Amino acid sequence: MASDISSSLAEGRTSTSATKSARRTAEIAEFADAVLHGLSKRPRSIPSRFLYDATGSALFEDITRVEAYYPTRTETALLDSYGEEIAALAGDVETLVEFGSGSSRKTSLLIEALAGLDTYIPIDVSESFLADAAKRLEAKHPGLNVKPHVGDFMRTRNLAGAPRGERLGFFSGSTIGNLTHEEAKAFLGNAAELLGVGSTFLIGVDLKKSLDILLPAYDDEEGVTAAFSLNLLARINRELDGDFDTTGFAHTALYNDGKGRIEIYLQSLTDQDVRVMGRSFSFAKGERIHTENSHKYSVSEFQALAKTAGWQPVKAWTDPADLFSLHLLRLA
Ligand code: TRP
Repeated sequence: MASDISSSLAEGRTSTSATKSARRTAEIAEFADAVLHGLSKRPRSIPSRFLYDATGSALFEDITRVEAYYPTRTETALLDSYGEEIAALAGDVETLVEFGSGSSRKTSLLIEALAGLDTYIPIDVSESFLADAAKRLEAKHPGLNVKPHVGDFMRTRNLAGAPRGERLGFFSGSTIGNLTHEEAKAFLGNAAELLGVGSTFLIGVDLKKSLDILLPAYDDEEGVTAAFSLNLLARINRELDGDFDTTGFAHTALYNDGKGRIEIYLQSLTDQDVRVMGRSFSFAKGERIHTENSHKYSVSEFQALAKTAGWQPVKAWTDPADLFSLHLLRLA
């Protein structure tokens, strides 16, 4: 593994072209390992983080604008309606720490509501994504110190050199739902260490709801989500010398009631053989590759999970149709 590279990243430095190309090589090696391993085991699966290359990230942006995909606009509306109340309950926040540099629209709403805010620290693995977000937010909020931190927000436990002071964490988009309950608990524990005692944490969490609404959000008629999903196979072809026929697989979303989550798969439409990096993989018709989970929580289920990691619920807000929730937590 590329431990030198990840530790230099973890310190949040900007990189030279030499470290950039070393990182690119390490990324491809990591992707290759994950794909060869994931296609060899049963059931087959590839970790969801590999959905987000440049093409995948752009397609995900498109998903957030699809009519059937309610989470983004609903969460944005909640921030718009309750930003002032959230800010008042959070207290004198000096530093906003965002886990994954999300849409600058949502972040801007929160920044505007936080009157005494001094510093904004987005944490993301993508340096170029961070640089773009930083530029946009600096232009929009003159006087705000933007200090991007390059790193994996799942594993970051401290922000070396970052100002102390009252911290508010922000984790939007129900990305926490893409983690298993165990992973979410571990993430909340790391975030507690990073943010510190007395800090607050605002988390967007998708609610359990009727399948009539839920399923189309993950399998829209326009096919935007399918394109996002299938880009993973195209990425394997591009980066790992694969020969996936992207028309020979279908994007599939189903709701696992027992686990309370949407599960995303790529399903083979025929019996077929696929080659990746010189290795051959046989798919039977109907055989699937699991690529993502999106857990749904009632307000009380999420509060119970947060408490197991030491976070006390302050308040939760939901929209009138009960589609989405925003949770404010405090570390006692
Ligand atoms: N955080 C998003 C969610 O769970 C991610 C997401 C939306 C997603 N649509 C998707 C992931 C489709 C994979 C496939 O809602």
